[in-house]
Amino acid sequence: MKITDNIYWIGIKDWELRSFHGRELSTHHGSTYNSYLLKDEINVLIDTVWDPFADRFIKKLEADPGIANIDAVVINHIEPDHGGSLGILAKNGLRPDVPIYCSKPGAEIINKYFHDVKLNLQPVETGDTIKTGKFKLVFVEMRMIHWPDSMLTYVDGDGTLFSNDAFGQHLCASGYFNDEVDEALLYGEAMKYYAGILTPYSKLIERKIGMLNAMEIPIKLIAPSHGVIWRKDPLDIVNKYLEWSMDYNDGSVVVVYDCLYKATRQIAAAIAQGLENKGVRHKVVNSGDSDFSDLFTDLFRARGMIVGSSTVNNAMLRSISAALDCVKSHKLKGKIGAAFGSYGWSGEAPKQIAEKLESAGVGLIGKPIGIKYAPTADELKECVLFGETFADAL
Ligand code: FEO
Repeated sequence: MKITDNIYWIGIKDWELRSFHGRELSTHHGSTYNSYLLKDEINVLIDTVWDPFADRFIKKLEADPGIANIDAVVINHIEPDHGGSLGILAKNGLRPDVPIYCSKPGAEIINKYFHDVKLNLQPVETGDTIKTGKFKLVFVEMRMIHWPDSMLTYVDGDGTLFSNDAFGQHLCASGYFNDEVDEALLYGEAMKYYAGILTPYSKLIERKIGMLNAMEIPIKLIAPSHGVIWRKDPLDIVNKYLEWSMDYNDGSVVVVYDCLYKATRQIAAAIAQGLENKGVRHKVVNSGDSDFSDLFTDLFRARGMIVGSSTVNNAMLRSISAALDCVKSHKLKGKIGAAFGSYGWSGEAPKQIAEKLESAGVGLIGKPIGIKYAPTADELKECVLFGETFADAL
């Protein structure tokens, strides 16, 4: 698929993928593993594909230009979904003298992954360039966005930025470009990707985008390694990343709970009623029955999280514990929260939730609400009032 006069998409569309990073992330709309070929005076392969798809990838490359005719390879990121086929190419005709351009940490990781093949690794740093003929490749390190080896490659003279994971989406579509797919779906998947994969590195992303803007490179296309290519207004997604990296929230609240029977659910509904009374956009989610990645995206988007669990065996339920661990590990910033739950006798869960929220940097509103067995009408009224108080604190 020709994407510019000299650049071809030679990736793989994976319509069936439903989870990624093992079972960590849901991918309701599949994904793609984007590899690109620059045809200039030399043929340059930019990234490969996940190795389960190596056979299809090799067939594409053999059809044009032929693996033996690849003159240089750029590995922007060696995580197996992009670099996984490199070793297989080396065993299927890639010439051993072909330079493999990667970051210095990338070279270390490539040596660890592919210790049984000979590769001509050529580590590069930010600002390094190589001439390909009429074009020049410019490398920009993206260390820890989101691996130590990550980098971008810009094609000077063509205006294409190969951004690898940055600006990607787990989205498989018939189209190849952002103007060929549903915009709401596209931005929803781009945000889910950012929330699930890139949030812990937001501070670095903010700085790196500042650096890219200062370079004032004319960007015509942003070609990530997952999903569609940003052709129409390509800088819009860069601006979105900047917005998402700066303690983003849309002012909404997620009431998230898990429960054994119905008491904690009734408390959740009463708190949500209080939010509704104040006109606050909110969502009520039973974490035990919900897609974890979608829930986390909701938490990423929200200003507030009101978190509840029944107490079982002196502890909160595991879906709530996992959600709170994720809030902490992803370093969500600028959030406020509260804790609630029903219990029978010991009642530890609301206090434990409050402690986890606090240790994740979430600002607590009010004291943890614990209600014994089933809430009375008066207790539910108190919960409605609490929802209103929380709304006032947003
Ligand atoms: Fe899409 Fe970091 O791999």
